Amino acid sequence: MTDSVRVTLEGDDDATSVTVYGNEGDVSTGDATFRFSVDGSTEDGDDHRAEATGDPRRIAPLADVPTDGTLRCEARAGNRGTELILRREGEAVSAWRNSCPHKPEVRLDPGPGAIVRDDQLVCHEHGARFECDDGVCTAGPCRGDALESIAVAVRDGAVYLTDDRFDSCRRLDEPAA
Ligand code: FES
Repeated sequence: MTDSVRVTLEGDDDATSVTVYGNEGDVSTGDATFRFSVDGSTEDGDDHRAEATGDPRRIAPLADVPTDGTLRCEARAGNRGTELILRREGEAVSAWRNSCPHKPEVRLDPGPGAIVRDDQLVCHEHGARFECDDGVCTAGPCRGDALESIAVAVRDGAVYLTDDRFDSCRRLDEPAA
């Protein structure tokens, strides 16, 4: 098995947080790129999950995406994984990077679903509140900042990743294939 490592890089104006599979990788934000290589890996970082049957961009049935919480999943681009959260409102689904603008290493959804209160996402760490349509923070330490939106679409009762930055996506509440 290939281990994964979660890397967060913070610059003056930007920050990013990804999961890297395999024994080497890089993370970039602004002008800075952090490259690393880890000894002792037993396997390369080839995508070992995107081979799931069917469309690798299919995330989940629409009905599995909650309205009172979020569904956590991971989008992959090469050997890099980015955690996303999905929330449904009626027949529509919104997706964002699972990272709080106040502290990018903090996941809005640490596993059981992000807090949704009065139609807003709430960060469990310091209580920042985000609009569920445009992801803008309306209260809290990162007021005025916005969650990073990820493009998804609903087709035939299922949610698909349509964001060109990624190749595939899988749910994190299901065992890896
Ligand atoms: S880490 Fe989210 S509000 Fe502080």
